[in-house]
Order: sequence, then C-alpha cells, then structure tokens
Amino acid sequence: MCGIVGYVGGQSAAPILLDGLKKLEYRGYDSAGIAALHDGTITLRKVTGRIANLCALTEDGKTVPGTVGIGHTRWATHGAPTDQNAHPHTSNDGRFAVVHNGIIENHLQLRDELQKKGYHFESETDTEVIVHLLEHYYRGDLKTAVLKVTARLQGSYALGILCADAPDQLLAVREASPLLIGVGIGSNYFASDVTALVAHTRNIISLEDGELAILTADDVSVFDCAGRPVQKSISRITWDVQAAEKGGYAHFMLKEMMEQPAAVEATLSPRIRNDAVCLDEITLSDETIRSFRKIVITACGSAYYAGCAGRYAIEHLCRVPVQVELASELRYNNPMIDGETLLIVLSQSGETADTIAALKECKQRGASVLAVVNVVGSTIARLADDVLYTWAGPEIAVATTKGYTTQLAVLYLFALYAAHVRGTIDEPTYAKLVRTLRSAPSGMQQALDLNPKIPKLAKKYHRSPSIFFIGRNTDYAVALEGALKMKEISYLHAEAYAAGELKHGTIALIHDGQPVIALCCNPAIAAKTMSNIIEVKARGAEVLAVAVRGTQEIASVADDLIFIPRMEPLFAAIVEIVPLQLLAYHVAKENGCDIDKPKNLAKSVTVE
Ligand code: M6R
Repeated sequence: MCGIVGYVGGQSAAPILLDGLKKLEYRGYDSAGIAALHDGTITLRKVTGRIANLCALTEDGKTVPGTVGIGHTRWATHGAPTDQNAHPHTSNDGRFAVVHNGIIENHLQLRDELQKKGYHFESETDTEVIVHLLEHYYRGDLKTAVLKVTARLQGSYALGILCADAPDQLLAVREASPLLIGVGIGSNYFASDVTALVAHTRNIISLEDGELAILTADDVSVFDCAGRPVQKSISRITWDVQAAEKGGYAHFMLKEMMEQPAAVEATLSPRIRNDAVCLDEITLSDETIRSFRKIVITACGSAYYAGCAGRYAIEHLCRVPVQVELASELRYNNPMIDGETLLIVLSQSGETADTIAALKECKQRGASVLAVVNVVGSTIARLADDVLYTWAGPEIAVATTKGYTTQLAVLYLFALYAAHVRGTIDEPTYAKLVRTLRSAPSGMQQALDLNPKIPKLAKKYHRSPSIFFIGRNTDYAVALEGALKMKEISYLHAEAYAAGELKHGTIALIHDGQPVIALCCNPAIAAKTMSNIIEVKARGAEVLAVAVRGTQEIASVADDLIFIPRMEPLFAAIVEIVPLQLLAYHVAKENGCDIDKPKNLAKSVTVE
C-alpha cells in the first residue's frame, strides 16, 4: 500500500529515488512522484500510472535537480489515481513536500479546520492535510513543527518530509506503517522496505512507532514523539541484490514459484536435527505449550489460507482445538481469547494492518503471540512474543507463492514440535513424520517439473468465465488458495467449495463445459471426492483432477489429470498447491495479464 523513498547525499537524488521506487512498485502502482530540493526550490514531478511514466516525464530524473529528495508510488485510498492525487504533496507556500504511506483517519476534520484558516487543497487525498499542517505549525524549526503535526494525526503513517529551509536534511517519521532508514557513507536513505535500500547499503535502522529521524548526508538522529534523542542499533540485511531481481525469469512470480523448494528447505533444515524438530528460537516453555487450551490462527488472504491448511495438522497431531480467523474480522468479534490461548499470526510482509490490529487485540486479552513472518524486523515480528521466520527471501510478486508454502512449512514444524511436547504423538510416528516433512522440497520440485505440461491446460481453460475448485479437508484448504491465485492474477472468477457442499446449492451453477478443478490428494477420502466429480460430470462439467501418484482410478472420472508425488495427507498442501500456482500463472499469461502487478492490488496491505 504505497511505497516511499528518500535520499540525501552527494549525488543527484532523482535517479536514486526512481530506482528505489521501481523496487517498491509492487506496493502500489497507480501513480508516482518525486520531489527534490535545489537552491532553495523544491521541484515536483508526479504522474498517473507506473514508474516508467515518471521516468519518461523526468528524463530518468535528469530534469529534477537536487541532492536531497523524496519519492512515492501510490495505491489509491482517498481519491482516484490522478496526477493531482499522486504524491508528493506540497504546501501552499511551496516550502514543504510530503510523501505518505498509510491513512489519516481524522483528515476530514483537519481539512475543514485548515480550509477555514485559508489553506487551499489541490487533491482529494487524506495526506494533503499533513503538508498544510506543517506550513501552519512551522516557526523555523522543522523537527518541532513535525512533532506538532504528528500529535494532530490519527491513523497510520510513514512520512518523508522535505523542507526548502533545511536544504541538507530529510525527515522521516512513522506510526503503524513500515519505515526503514538505510545508513550509508556520505549518504543516507529511507524506504518502506529493504528492497529499495539493498543496492546502496546493508546497514538498517528500524524506526518504532512514534519515532522521528533526521537524516543528513553524514548523520542519522532519531527522536521519540516528545523530541528526546533515542539510541538506535544498526542491523545488517542479509538479502542480496540479486534476490530482489528477476534473474532471467519472465516474471517475479515464476521465479518465486521456482524458488519454493529452496525456500522451504531453508525454512525446514535449520529446525530439523536427528529426526526431531528443534525450535531454539522461541521462548515458549514446554509447560506453556502443554497448558494451551486452544490455538487461534489469524491472518489475511493467502496467509489465512495457509492457516486453514495448517489447522488440520495442528489439531490432528496436538489434539488441541484450532480456530482460524480472518484478521479483518477477529477484532470485531469480542474474541474469546485469554491467557490459555496461543495466537499464531501469519504474515509474509509482517506489515498487514488488519493482522497487526488483530494481534494487538488478542495480546491485550492475554494471549501468547507466536508470529510466522518472512520480513525480519517487521512490525508483526516486533510485536509478537516469539517469531518463527520463514526463510523465503524477498517476495516481490503481489501473488504470494513461496511466502505461502514457507508458512505451511513452519506450521507443520510447529504441529510436530507441539505434539511431541504435549505427548500426543508416539516416538516412531513423530520421527517418521519429521522425515516426511523433510522430503517436502523434493516433492515440490517434482511438482514444479510439471510446468511444461501446464500451458496446454491453461489454453483449455483461460477463456472460461468461471472455475470451481473443490476438495475435502486439507484439499479444501488448498482449493481456497488455488482459487485466490486464479482470481488475483488472471481475473477469472474462481470459487472454492468443500466438495461435499456442492449438492447443497452450488451444483445449480454446473452446466455444460463448466471447469471444475477437483483436488483429491488424500487417498483416504479420495473416493468421496470422486463421487462429487461424478456428480458434476453428470451435469456437463469439464474436470481437471489433481491427485497423488498411484490413485489411477481417478483417471476414469476426470477429463484431465495432474499427478503429484505421494505425500503424507496432513502435509500434502505444500506440494499440491504448486500445480495450481502454475495453472493460475499460465492462465494469466494466456490472458495477457500483468502477472506481477495485478490490477487493484498491492503487495503489502498496510491499510485496514
Ligand atoms: O503479507 P501478508 O502475508 O500479511 O499478506 C496477506 C495478504 O494480503 C496476502 O497473502 C494476499 O492475499 C496475497 N496477494 C495473495 O497472493
């Protein structure tokens, strides 16, 4: 949800800002802009559409002079994607420019107040109140003015601020939106995430909520919301530049799908020793793990669907009730959560606003919070009591793939670990299941090797107005994620149904040629799903079945078949999802969609 960057140093700022914005484009891509300061004048350029349009408008930054500047790539919340609504926004006197990621909830009230004072608004955005407030409160000291402004704001913000009176300074401030400072030599930076920084520096300062940073070319000073200095430590980024590049693949999504075996391997291998799961990084004691009376998993989108799949493994192995809740709903439900609840929070980015809100609500009610997060040092990682990182590396494509499968890997590890601690699994079964999980990367690789066969299927289905995904139990959880992948990148209407539910209404929608993707990867219940396949076939459906090798009987009922390697059904989702990701990818390609940046979406959803 919007990306912001800032640079101060000895070089021309604009090309550096544009390059950073390209890296952040996945966070929002309906308009973009930069502002740089030179000889006491702020030059502003902003335009609707992608960063490429901004590069063209500024001749790759050549027409925007200055060695200090800020940039923004937008995912519209308040006001349509237009040039006027694009950031940066400037004050009426032209002395301030501001970029913002987040939402100012009291903007209408502030706008009204400022208009009465005579300030003129040029956009429909919530952000513009900030820049007029700055002009209003500024009395020659930028830091003081910014603290006065932030004291008036309700909502979430990561702000980058440029002031014509402070020609060698940048200000950055955050509240509930991600913001990192990149510490260089003779240059300093800020950005919404590390991908925009890693080409310049690996030294990072993470700002906490309420903190403000003043950046000059040679110094970074951080202050709390009362203006008192704060000592911050510098951490090192381990991701390399190539990890955030396409590396010869046509799309980030394809690259990230192909990286899944390695990502899952990196997530599993440090945590498995001698056929046992070792979670040294968590502080949850065995006694606490034994004491939980229930587990609540909360997340959004694909992370929620990873939770739906993981629930089966945890409940089955640990014999503890698991509730999976959409983070955007949980907080409004007066949730029955207390000190005997373990809350597992799943988030690739660690910055999803709804998930953060749910975490805070449950923590307040006494739950122990275990986060499963990919981005080190992200907000969710910092708010949780314990973190199990997914070692997927940077995920750039808006549609998550390796983020989802590494979340599954962590949930399976945790299920085995907790079952062992709680004594709900016998030793031989435990060792056998740990070995099975260890083989997941190889199963995923075999599923990826099916890639050459998928375009033919995509050609068959890509014009269908809608596709149904059906399955039972863990197959149903995979159906949910498979349908989301199809919807978000190919724009086909796709719906997942528990296979047994079809006959309770949805089967009315089945007609001649209706594609149905049937997931039957649990041999113990495959016969039941096969009955459902026969029912939809009888009404004219075209069925593509995904099953495990050795279940040949499925061939007699389905029109097309994808066989994946046999896998313990509790863990099968991690392999089974792979052909569905590939299918969504190839359907989207057939339909000429912008696969890495689907319309209306953004990678990191930092608004509620
Ligand atoms: O960063 P998070 O895991 O918290 O993101 C949650 C969802 O926004 C995310 O999974 C979204 O559904 C993806 N676009 C799905 O591919």
